[in-house]
Amino acid sequence: MNEVVLLKALNPKKIAMTVKTISHVKLEAIQGNIANQPDMNAVVNAANARLETGGGVAGAIHRAAGPGLAEECRPMAPIKPGQAVLSGGHNLPNPFVIHCLGPVFGMDKPEEKLLADCYRNALNLADQNKIETIAFPAISTGAFGYPFPDAAKVALKTIKETAPEVKHVKHIRFVLYSQKDLQMFEKEMS
Ligand code: APR
Repeated sequence: MNEVVLLKALNPKKIAMTVKTISHVKLEAIQGNIANQPDMNAVVNAANARLETGGGVAGAIHRAAGPGLAEECRPMAPIKPGQAVLSGGHNLPNPFVIHCLGPVFGMDKPEEKLLADCYRNALNLADQNKIETIAFPAISTGAFGYPFPDAAKVALKTIKETAPEVKHVKHIRFVLYSQKDLQMFEKEMS
């Protein structure tokens, strides 16, 4: 079931990436900007509870989407750590955004469960909405202070557990901001 095929590949834009197959789902990791993933049906926002713009991922996504995104999200806020909610993509190239509130490391407990909830809930929400391709950032590893290798382990473990259960999701991409983060993530993938 959890057959893993690991290979190094070059995508058409010559961005180095690592690709794995978990059950029927393709999992890949690249370095890039989550707000510039035009071939994905959905991108995941490392959101704040108010679902407003912010720094890091939330800033990049809201800037690219335009003010309509915050407006659509307002009635769904506040959300709780581990929760995932769906909106349209507005001016983003993606039809959907899934907003997840990650745990603040050292504060929202148990942080490992709450971070796993983000990935599980986001994938299940994508599946319920027949979303086939979804790109994640490394939730909680920026302003929320989750140590990157620990967060990568939780993300990958949860994806491995959840991927065999989804029907529609076929392709999951991790978009890591720096080369160093990509390398750490690849280490956990191998
Ligand atoms: N694309 C991909 N990854 C990015 C981008 C981007 N444009 N910008 C930052 N990152 C990376 C960071 O380097 C980090 O590894 O995404 C990861 C998550 O960082 P944050 O965006 O800070 O998310 P998080 O740690 O979950 O904190 C959320 O930050 O901006 C505020 O309003 C937001 O309060 C919320 C909090």
